[in-house]
Amino acid sequence: MNILILGGGGREHALAWAVLQNPKCDKLIVAPGNAGIAQIADCADIDVLNAGVVVEFAAENAIDFVIIGPEAPLAAGVADALRDAGVLCFGPSAAAAQLEASKAFTKEICDACGAPTAAWARFTDAAAAKAYVVAQGAPIVVKADGLAAGKGVVVAMTEAEALDAVDDMFGGAFGAAGAEVVIEAFMAGEEASFFVLSDGVNVLPIGTAQDHKQVGEGDTGPNTGGMGAYSPAPILSDAIAADALTRIVQPTVDEMGRRGTPFQGVLYAGLMIENGEPRLVEYNVRFGDPECQVLMMRLGAQALDLMLACAEGRLDQMTVNWADDHALTVVMAAQGYPAGYEKGSVIKGLDGCGEDSSHMVFHAGTAERDGAIVAAGGRVLNVTARGAHLAEARDRAYGMVDRIDWPEGFCRRDIGWRAL
Ligand code: GLY
Repeated sequence: MNILILGGGGREHALAWAVLQNPKCDKLIVAPGNAGIAQIADCADIDVLNAGVVVEFAAENAIDFVIIGPEAPLAAGVADALRDAGVLCFGPSAAAAQLEASKAFTKEICDACGAPTAAWARFTDAAAAKAYVVAQGAPIVVKADGLAAGKGVVVAMTEAEALDAVDDMFGGAFGAAGAEVVIEAFMAGEEASFFVLSDGVNVLPIGTAQDHKQVGEGDTGPNTGGMGAYSPAPILSDAIAADALTRIVQPTVDEMGRRGTPFQGVLYAGLMIENGEPRLVEYNVRFGDPECQVLMMRLGAQALDLMLACAEGRLDQMTVNWADDHALTVVMAAQGYPAGYEKGSVIKGLDGCGEDSSHMVFHAGTAERDGAIVAAGGRVLNVTARGAHLAEARDRAYGMVDRIDWPEGFCRRDIGWRAL
């Protein structure tokens, strides 16, 4: 089968790596891809946010199955256009992608289906939002309603911080995403991610992970897209995962079906766990990045079978075959990230990393220049390893990090510290 993956980060490199291990894949194209992906698949520089362009490209290249990596093409209706054109596709419709594209929409769904989450209110003007902050007090959470590339959430520990966040959001700091603001009660506990496939009716959990959002060791400093992740998440025990599936994810999928907008794809539930009770923080409608890298490392070739079954509405016939293993990924970022950083520095030593089924360097933001791999983004490499236990996965990942010669890059040295 001919497969097209949309996206060009570490998540898509990991998806491509897993898909290529499955003999069902005859040909793989990734659009736009990156320098690492180009070493294992064809890359095509097309506008993945333009549904018409993607449909035409799929027809021209006899694509049988499209896997959509990032949220933006999903919110732009690319999955809808592909399905309308008769192309099998993994990823939700634009209507179902509202579960990530609108925080208020998700909260309404939670209220409608009784899924446990924080108390909330929505606002379209700053004065009313500020009055609510003052009435509720801090700590409190202020969120831009729309897609803000992971940056539109402020967990305010003081009232002043919350009031500033309201001003920033209504002042345009997140563009149109901040035209509406959701304010939520602060939830204490430990956060973990739960990944569940849904074909619109059936649900199938495919793994758990935890990431490190802050740039500094000990989880300090500004937030990033994620500086590392590991799977499984020890805090998400089988019992808590089963509870989250029964009380949060399945009711959400049922509610989306009742509304005539079934959710088909991967639902990435951010959960806050306190005293053994999970509550929903947020949904994403795609794999996490870098969480996908550790999930793919553990799932391997079966990831394609699972995504196909999801797209074909037969998840009830599938099981996930887990090895009793662990995976960990360390993000190497350009010096300065998440603030300003330089592009174009040369990365050496990648050949010495000894890639195999337990060791992979997934490329997140790289390009090829005169035969060399150069940094082309903030998060640049995802150095990923698998082991019989988390400490082994960690040691293998940092062993690879130490072989990479890139003075203009940095990483956290404590990925997995909470679980270890
Ligand atoms: N690592 C967080 C995310 O993918 O949203």
